[in-house]
Amino acid sequence: MELCNRLEYLEYAAVASNPNPTLETLKSDNGIAVVLGDLKPGDGFRTIAEQIRDQHPDIPFIRLNTGSTATGPDANWSLDVPLRRSQLDRLMRRAERYHGTERRHRLTGSSASIRRVRASIDQVADFDTNVLVTGPSGTGKELVARTIHDLSERADQPFVPINCGAIPAELLESELFGHEKGAFTGAVNDRTGRFELAEGGTLFLDEIGDMSLDMQVKLLRVLQERSFEKVGSNKTQRCNVRIVAATHRDLRKMVEEGEFREDLFYRLNVYPIEMPPLLKRASDLPQLIGELFTRYSGTGEAELRVSQEAMQVLASYQWPGNVRELGNLVERLAIIKPEGTIEVSDLPPKYLADENRVSGQPNVVSEAMQLTCDNLKEHLSSVERELIGQAMAATNGVVAKAARLLSMRRTTLVEKLGKYQLN
Ligand SMILES: Nc1ncnc2c1ncn2[C@@H]1O[C@H](COP(=O)(O)OP(=O)(O)OP(=O)(O)O)[C@@H](O)[C@H]1O
Ligand SMILES: [Mg+2]
Repeated sequence: MELCNRLEYLEYAAVASNPNPTLETLKSDNGIAVVLGDLKPGDGFRTIAEQIRDQHPDIPFIRLNTGSTATGPDANWSLDVPLRRSQLDRLMRRAERYHGTERRHRLTGSSASIRRVRASIDQVADFDTNVLVTGPSGTGKELVARTIHDLSERADQPFVPINCGAIPAELLESELFGHEKGAFTGAVNDRTGRFELAEGGTLFLDEIGDMSLDMQVKLLRVLQERSFEKVGSNKTQRCNVRIVAATHRDLRKMVEEGEFREDLFYRLNVYPIEMPPLLKRASDLPQLIGELFTRYSGTGEAELRVSQEAMQVLASYQWPGNVRELGNLVERLAIIKPEGTIEVSDLPPKYLADENRVSGQPNVVSEAMQLTCDNLKEHLSSVERELIGQAMAATNGVVAKAARLLSMRRTTLVEKLGKYQLN
């Protein structure tokens, strides 16, 4: 096929997938572009695309588009047939950049759920698509927004955050759009708004669920028309700003209850990213603790050692404050035990209180159980990977001990560590 030749000539691995690509084919492939054949709705394209995204988050996939126009986020990565050289080249350059992004990611963790978040970020970063990040507080929503910006073509332009919940409703309009001198009592000077400050870059609308209905109308207009007026001015200004919004609230429910405009919700929710609570990704704890400790200590040299038992206590704690709470704990532990190993007795009592704990030790398994996947094999491997990751963390990477924990032969575990790239 002409396309495969062309791609291979460019040193991109091509998996032209009509019929479906098997995951085995992909595994043996370490190229950087994946081309999917044109699959009609109902052919399981979504499932395949999601399998690839889950198992190979570092490989972008490109969909061949032979007739019907692709829609949704995947449209950004579709290649029209017959081929147009310019489009192919553009996609390839983008694929190359995508491949080089892994190291610039700031989200720590290797649980299935966090890998999925990273893959979503990679998939959407390069486009001006609006993104809505949801999830409980402290789960990393702002970090996601910054990462999207950093990985986008707008990275050299400003990233401007604004917390819509923290600014009184009557001041928010002038914060966002700016005002002219004399526009209202107290407006003694001209003021530049955040939209203007973010020109060419990304505007992060944090706590969007707290925006008043009045302001929602005004924001919607800007998103539709890509222009706005300063308060007190009738001069319309064009704007080129990418919007990432975040909230810990359930906007869908707010829409049903008439507290959030449905049209604005759809505008913002073009590409949703949902942050999983820390409780559902307990296997990320050791890595996160390492990362947060490095951040506080400012050096990469020292490390915070946590005993197996203490790690287990942390793994079955509820984490209502998620990663932010973990950060506070790490900061505190680093002060009380700058050297030596953190034991259960070093943990503040609330981490041991029954009412704050998940019963039994179901964390990791329950995460896997909640994955919506239609593929049993994939499901089982992800459970296996999670459990192995947790056993390795709990035994500080001592394979023989981890094998015993898992009731598995050492050689089998070594093999699986290789397979899941956990070594
Ligand atoms: N996966 C992660 N890797 C490293 N650091 C993280 C990760 N997730 C969150 N953090 C850190 O945890 C803290 C809280 O993250 P962030 O402010 O992005 O959360 P949030 O969801 O916006 O919280 P809130 O809803 O309370 O505003 C930050 O210091 C952030 O750097
Ligand atoms: Mg935040």
